[in-house]
Amino acid sequence: MRAIAVSAFRAEPGLVELPKPDPGAGEVRVKVEYAALNPLDWQTLDRGTLDQQTADGTPPGASPHVFPFVLGTDFAGRVDMIGSGDNRFRVGDAVFGRVTAPPPGRCGAYAEYLCVPQDSPIALVPRDMPLHAAAALPSAGTTAAQILSSTAVRSGLSLLVVGATGGVGSFLTQLAAARGTAVVAAVRGDEGRRMKALGAIATIDTTHGPDASASAVRALYPEGVDALVDLVSTDTRSFAAYAALLRDGGVAVTTRSVAAPPGVAWSDYRLAPTAALLDELASAVARGELEVPIDMELPLEKAPQALTQNRAGGARGKTVFAV
Ligand SMILES: NC(=O)c1ccc[n+]([C@@H]2O[C@H](COP(=O)([O-])OP(=O)(O)OC[C@H]3O[C@@H](n4cnc5c(N)ncnc54)[C@H](OP(=O)(O)O)[C@@H]3O)[C@@H](O)[C@H]2O)c1
Repeated sequence: MRAIAVSAFRAEPGLVELPKPDPGAGEVRVKVEYAALNPLDWQTLDRGTLDQQTADGTPPGASPHVFPFVLGTDFAGRVDMIGSGDNRFRVGDAVFGRVTAPPPGRCGAYAEYLCVPQDSPIALVPRDMPLHAAAALPSAGTTAAQILSSTAVRSGLSLLVVGATGGVGSFLTQLAAARGTAVVAAVRGDEGRRMKALGAIATIDTTHGPDASASAVRALYPEGVDALVDLVSTDTRSFAAYAALLRDGGVAVTTRSVAAPPGVAWSDYRLAPTAALLDELASAVARGELEVPIDMELPLEKAPQALTQNRAGGARGKTVFAV
């Protein structure tokens, strides 16, 4: 089968031919039709992550990685084989979800076939939902929904989203707006029209940094915003500059594992996907209540270039690969 993989840590991803994986007990094998790009796909290969790892690149305490290491977590496709034992799926089922079962690298979404335990965060694709939309949902949709629950933002409250134009931000803006939350989208460039269509009440341009854009937020919310979700800042200074726009008692969330300054109530979000939440998100899409923001659809072979491009920035929703 064709797959996009790396031959070693720090190696460049490329197209390779690999044997089809065989499903083990309790697994399903999926013929992948679409995979979706997440920054995690290149972040796991990044030097910054690897510096903290042992000599062969394996994180301390983690199970050994399999090489070639097949990239990608988010997929949609059809079950084509069932492993031994009971299984909640049948051959032919259209499914979508995340593949992360150990050992890392054995199966990834950027491949024609993958095997995944049937009790993984995978779910049936609703009949009216196209597979490319299903593939784009798992990581970014789950992150947006779980962050929203954790910040308890509700009708009448305000939420500043930094990096609102990307995959997570585009889902988060819609889900928060649907609850009646006033979303201020902090983005680089002229994205007001797109963010308004997703439900933001205002869009501010952060091209010149957090301090330069602070006055625009203060003009809207002199007392400060109720909540901040920062999908972008990787240094405390930048996160602190956005956190300074919170009202007294406001809450901040980072997805980039950066600490907020003392005195700010904040949390470091960690993805915890579940099949039940995937069902909920897919139902919302099927009912027309949630739009899956597809930025680009590319053939699988273009994944290495797309990863390079995503690392440089500029995402406007999700990139999916037709496998
Ligand atoms: N901890 C977790 O469990 C978890 C879960 C999900 C995601 N994440 C992380 O959260 C981050 C966002 O994920 P994603 O899927 O939304 O990524 P994405 O689709 O690549 O979107 C990132 C967005 O941020 C924008 N951006 C970059 N710098 C900016 C700045 N200074 N001001 C405003 N916008 C800026 C980018 O557009 P421009 O470059 O054009 O500005 C892009 O639209 C990623 O780093 C991802 O790894 C972590």
